[in-house]
Amino acid sequence: MTRLDRKLKMNERLQREFSLVGKVAMVTGAARHDGIGAACAQALADAGAKVVVADVMDEQGRQVADSINAAGGSAVYMHLDVRSEAAWMRAIADTVHALGGFDVLVNNAGTTGNGLIEDLPLAEWKRVRSINLDGVFLGTKQGIVAMRPGGVAGKGVAIINMGSVTSLVGVASSSSYVGCKGGVRLLTKCAAIECGRLEYNIRVNTMVPGFIETGLLKDGCQNMVDQGLVQSVEEIRELFRSGHPIGRIGRPMEIGMGVCFLASDASSFITGADLVVDGGYTAQ
Ligand SMILES: NC(=O)c1ccc[n+]([C@@H]2O[C@H](COP(=O)([O-])OP(=O)(O)OC[C@H]3O[C@@H](n4cnc5c(N)ncnc54)[C@H](O)[C@@H]3O)[C@@H](O)[C@H]2O)c1
Repeated sequence: MTRLDRKLKMNERLQREFSLVGKVAMVTGAARHDGIGAACAQALADAGAKVVVADVMDEQGRQVADSINAAGGSAVYMHLDVRSEAAWMRAIADTVHALGGFDVLVNNAGTTGNGLIEDLPLAEWKRVRSINLDGVFLGTKQGIVAMRPGGVAGKGVAIINMGSVTSLVGVASSSSYVGCKGGVRLLTKCAAIECGRLEYNIRVNTMVPGFIETGLLKDGCQNMVDQGLVQSVEEIRELFRSGHPIGRIGRPMEIGMGVCFLASDASSFITGADLVVDGGYTAQ
């Protein structure tokens, strides 16, 4: 075999390992065109998966699916409120019925929560938790039920839960959000151990983004100004920016690439892990 033959063979192998052709993937919270979910959906479609864009914002979600289809991918929109277990069961059954499988689940839907602990109403803590932690628990649970042997999909593969650098370190004035993201990380490890020991062929990992340029980040900055926690949006953005040694806030597609890796066979020995994509934020 010549050097060129060997290189071509290696390229073929890499393409095969990273490919998601033949896989069906669902991304929750993927309706905002500038969000991490939409970037994950686009990246998974680029790698060959048929994608379900799931969200509660129907009009915007349909537009994201349309734009993936217009770019040559394959996507459908589905309404899914991640807080409802019945809705999860319906959405997964509909996905298997419409697309013929359920191989990759990205539990990405989330909301922001700000305020000092001493001022935080319990109702606000519970509102954030219902989406950011209960929603991830329900998705992980029903994802496993569908993907495990004998489930409606039954072939295993990958669940990716969206954590944050706040899964690893605390941030002032964001306890409801940070509490959930910390919980997501250890819930993910529990799921990974259970699925591994039970030989379900389901890998479960946490994606850990730094601060990423999205609508949610803008909302979070504005909340902090409105609550008098900082003087201006510029002040908090500068704090976020300079917190990353790489010197900038991240881009949604940089998270989409990591999610594709965790969904693919290229990461076949990775489970219960954190994939930290944070421009060095937590290296300090
Ligand atoms: N932007 C960042 O800096 C950053 C950093 C780390 C982690 N994250 C996480 O990434 C994820 C996506 O955030 P984003 O910044 O792209 O924000 P985003 O606002 O674009 O995405 C959140 C999405 O979740 C959807 N959603 C909210 N409640 C829902 C519900 N009950 N059911 C279904 N969908 C619901 C929203 O409609 C929205 O489309 C979140 O989990 C967030 O915590 C974001």
